[in-house]
Amino acid sequence: MQKFEAFLLENLPVSKSIHPTYEQALHAMLMAGGKRFRPALLLGVVKALNPLMIEGAYHAGYAIELLHTYSLIHDDLPSMDNSPLRRGKPTLHILFDEVTAILVGDALNTYAFEVLSQAPFSDYTRVRLISELAQNGGLNGMVLGQAIDCYFENTPLDVEDIKFLHTNKTAKLIAASLKMGAIIVGEEELGEQLYDFGIKLGLLFQIQDDILDVTQTSQEAGKLTNNDEEKNSFVTILGLEKTMQEANTLADELLKELESFDTTLKAELEPLLTKYINRHR
Ligand code: IPE
Ligand code: IPE
Ligand code: MG
Ligand code: MG
Ligand code: MG
Repeated sequence: MQKFEAFLLENLPVSKSIHPTYEQALHAMLMAGGKRFRPALLLGVVKALNPLMIEGAYHAGYAIELLHTYSLIHDDLPSMDNSPLRRGKPTLHILFDEVTAILVGDALNTYAFEVLSQAPFSDYTRVRLISELAQNGGLNGMVLGQAIDCYFENTPLDVEDIKFLHTNKTAKLIAASLKMGAIIVGEEELGEQLYDFGIKLGLLFQIQDDILDVTQTSQEAGKLTNNDEEKNSFVTILGLEKTMQEANTLADELLKELESFDTTLKAELEPLLTKYINRHR
């Protein structure tokens, strides 16, 4: 992932202007690190199935990370989760101001699609990738999830509705990351299979995030924890113990499903996935 980080640094060309902090603000949260989980999934699929395409795939991994980072910047805004800390750094509305945070989010969101539109693939593949990212990160994906998450603060939902919420706000983008890897190498059918796996993985990822909200300090998490009291999460609805059981069940199912992947794909994804699938235990 070191090469990928270098790729990010080299590919955020901001025009010189009279704005004194615009460029710094655009770089700040994107370059603050983060797990880069979604690009790692995409790159893992490409590396397993056609390693010659890996450098081209950086563009697609980058696009997903741009959209994800925008979602985090907006998620932390005072009108959403009101968080002062992200990726171990002050959030943009703290470091600069709220206007800057909103606009940097907007810029990263649209830039994600610019990057995909210029990625070194066929026109067909570029359109497929743009479509997947938009469908999963947009109005019937991450944004819908965030809308439900915020609208139903302090209004308890049932577990099925929370699964729907988590699927949209988090799982679809994770599933799309795996599927976009398959699209790059021309394996649409496998992409569907990886998408279903990714939805389950993404649901687990958000349940774990909800667990870590109550078990980690802000310093450990690099973001404000104990911040979900008003939220619909597995922990607030089921309690920590039942949530841990639910996460264990999902984790075990995923580890089993991983066994059915073809050998090279399994070899590439297993180390990454084992780490994340078990991160709540
Ligand atoms: C945080 O995502 C938001 C969720 C969907 C839970 P990550 O945990 O992947 O955050 P970074 O990218 O590592 O900062
Ligand atoms: C956010 O979920 C998911 C996004 C789409 C950004 P959370 O609000 O739980 O994410 P964190 O805990 O702030 O990272
Ligand atoms: Mg949130
Ligand atoms: Mg949040
Ligand atoms: Mg959270």
